[in-house]
Amino acid sequence: MTARIVQITDLHLLADPLGELKGVCTRTNLQAVLDVLRRDFGSAERLIVTGDLAHDELRETYEVLRELLGDWLPKLRLIPGNHENRGFMRQVFGDRVTVVDDRNVFADAIGGWRLIGLDSQLPGEVRGQLGESQRDWLARELAAEPLRPTAVFLHHPPLKVGTGWLDEIGLEDAERLLELLRRSPQVKFVCCGHIHHEMTVAQANVLLLTTPSTSVQFLPETEMLVPDSVPPGFRIFDLEPDGSFRTRVVRVPIVTRVLP
Ligand SMILES: [Fe+2]
Repeated sequence: MTARIVQITDLHLLADPLGELKGVCTRTNLQAVLDVLRRDFGSAERLIVTGDLAHDELRETYEVLRELLGDWLPKLRLIPGNHENRGFMRQVFGDRVTVVDDRNVFADAIGGWRLIGLDSQLPGEVRGQLGESQRDWLARELAAEPLRPTAVFLHHPPLKVGTGWLDEIGLEDAERLLELLRRSPQVKFVCCGHIHHEMTVAQANVLLLTTPSTSVQFLPETEMLVPDSVPPGFRIFDLEPDGSFRTRVVRVPIVTRVLP
């Protein structure tokens, strides 16, 4: 039976309900995305959030997020981005996060697939890093079920995405992750955020998919950060038990509304 899962990323939520990032009210945008998710994709079996949850890294912001996600909580899986406070994330979403060697990860199963979430945060840095002990954990997880189709989620893309300034703040130890993925053919795709635009990159048996932010969008192939005017979005996956899958990005045009 097909399992539908949804990914949202780079929420950059702020405690201030009117707070903006690059001229975008991140809370208004997230609410619009969640409205569409509830209306059109409410039957999805998982909601995976791939980091940059709280731009201001305040506990209060995580509490706001938990409230906004509301009925999605039982289906929710979370991993950190570079804009994150791991401790507050655990305190507020403790029942939704697994802690392995001080990293916030998840290992889940649905529809004959395994879903694995990695923590690529390098505290104080924009670039990411997995570290040896987390890669060992991933290797053990992959070795435990080598025949089960698997999806890997992390914030920082492990392949170059073709935008220089973003590639410079990618995953520091990407090559070691790629070595592991290349000898794990059950991993059908790697799905990331961080670059705030949609991208598909295939390289040496690794398929990378990136997803637009729910907040501000970045124009690809620029020399520095240039906000893009395309609407925010999210990604849906339909996973088949035989390891095949379909995926697409859904955009959410924003209608300005008065916040409560
Ligand atoms: Fe981000």
